[in-house]
Amino acid sequence: MASSLPSLPSVAGTDPSSSVFDAFRISIAKRIAEALEPLTLEQAYAGVDYGKKGEDFTVALPRFRLPGKVDELAKKVIDQFQADDFVASVKHDKAFLHFQLNTTSLIRETLTQIHHLGSQYGYNSSGKGKKVLIEYSSPNIAKSFHVGHLRSTIIGAFLANVYKTCGWEVISANYLGDWGTQFGLIAVGYEKYGSQEELQKDPIKHLFDIYVKINKDADTDPEVKVEAAKFFRRMEDGDESALKNWREWRELSVKKYEVEYDRLNVHFDVYTGESKVGQKSIDDAIKRLDEMGLIDDHEGAKLVNLEKYKLGKAVVRKKDGTSIYLTRDIGGAVERYEKYKFDKMIYVISSQQDLHVAQFFKVLELMEFPWAKDLVHVNYGLVQGMSTRKGTVVFLNQIIKEATTVMHEQMQKNEEKYNAVEDPEMTSEELGITGIKIQDMTAKRYVEMATVAHRDDHLISIFSRINNYTFNWDRMLSFEGDTGPYLQYAHVRLASIGRKNPHLLPLPPPSEINIDSLVTSAHAREIAFLLGTYSDVVKTALKTHEPSGVVTFAFRLSHAISSAWETVIVKGEEDIEKAKARMWLYESARDVLAASMKLLSIRPLERM
Ligand code: ARG
Repeated sequence: MASSLPSLPSVAGTDPSSSVFDAFRISIAKRIAEALEPLTLEQAYAGVDYGKKGEDFTVALPRFRLPGKVDELAKKVIDQFQADDFVASVKHDKAFLHFQLNTTSLIRETLTQIHHLGSQYGYNSSGKGKKVLIEYSSPNIAKSFHVGHLRSTIIGAFLANVYKTCGWEVISANYLGDWGTQFGLIAVGYEKYGSQEELQKDPIKHLFDIYVKINKDADTDPEVKVEAAKFFRRMEDGDESALKNWREWRELSVKKYEVEYDRLNVHFDVYTGESKVGQKSIDDAIKRLDEMGLIDDHEGAKLVNLEKYKLGKAVVRKKDGTSIYLTRDIGGAVERYEKYKFDKMIYVISSQQDLHVAQFFKVLELMEFPWAKDLVHVNYGLVQGMSTRKGTVVFLNQIIKEATTVMHEQMQKNEEKYNAVEDPEMTSEELGITGIKIQDMTAKRYVEMATVAHRDDHLISIFSRINNYTFNWDRMLSFEGDTGPYLQYAHVRLASIGRKNPHLLPLPPPSEINIDSLVTSAHAREIAFLLGTYSDVVKTALKTHEPSGVVTFAFRLSHAISSAWETVIVKGEEDIEKAKARMWLYESARDVLAASMKLLSIRPLERM
């Protein structure tokens, strides 16, 4: 970025050319380090935080653990302080020093960087050369797509976007529940209840219906389960005649899912699944465990005793020799590492499976795979109360449909506005989906990651309280309050400025825009400041795996824009210079708001 500001020393891990506030922070850190020798620039930099109550940046002096009283330290900094183009003032308050940025520089540098970087604003290259495999969504074929799968889908898509934004190579994987004894049951059920026509029409629903029916039969007729087990045995043995139907069920279901994921703006690089884990990987894993003396035989079953780690006993092979969920995860992880050589692998799975995940992470660690330390479990709590008016949701398309219908009804309440909407069907679907996603990602997951420690004796896990939340259709689809539709509305309003003021476009290059009228507006300053924080919002999301911070950012920005709307006007401003400067601010805000929405996997609407 061509900057008109004084040059600064460089600090490791910072990059003012992609993160404009790094420059301001370095400038503050430089003052602190110079006044408080022997403090280094790096140490001082690490102490520069965002201010809490309206201050731009704050430094808590005690964190430096320097000799001398806090007041004396503060005095040293203040005595040497000189305002410049970066920092306008400093204030001492108890243990803190508060710094206020130079408003002209803040606004000009931030908007100029957004202008130069365009859609790359907020991106960083911290993950350059690194690869992450993220597994999410992972529904079970022939069973219901419940809200747990929906949360995994939403959070996983978000994480994939965040990692990409931070320069990582991302592989998105959907690990389908497409194997296991239930497919024996469905096969038996299909002979009784199956219809090729129904299957083609709606494979997901048809297979589900069959599954429900045959399960009922199995309750009264023990033969059903025996038949089913026999059938699955044939599948595991690779009997082509047993696999033929199953293959078609899987294929049709995946096709259907792809369409629905696309409506959600979610995309997978691979559709893998439990069926894809090779028998050889599973056998090899068990063999290795055996050789390492980690397996106990228990009445013909094989298990790994994890009681030392408070993780119970993990069965890796059943008496009848068929493989199980846990062992497929073990073999699957090994295969993935061999195939992708990832630097990190993230599993987005509900907290209901915490024990399962902790078990297979632990087993991989005991097997001494060096990459076992690079596995991360991103979990999340339950969602309560997401049923449609017709009853419980079992399919993804029901969720989308319900959101669309409820939204459509909501929109029709305002006839005038409704008539102005070009494509009410599309708009209500997009608004409905945004509503679901925002409600979901507003709920904090409560930072919890289970990481397996390298060479460590026990699982290092940070399981804090998992946040369960209650789903509420009315709340999520309202245009008021911090909801998805409100966010879309904020974006649409910004998008309309350009349409309504074509005479101001295209805007001149940044250096020719006179920003005086922005500098004198507290509202404009607030917006510019928020825009400047965006690249930090992205970095925090990478660190915490928590979407709620990005949601909070999007709403804060929307609120700031909404407050500015009445006073920082474009249309009706006769001074063209002023109007152009304001337009520049709003166009930048629109770009960054859109970027934050896309990070959350939301498609920003142009009109509604
Ligand atoms: N299909 C599983 C379920 O619906 C979730 C799979 C999670 N991923 C995994 N690698 N175990 O419960």
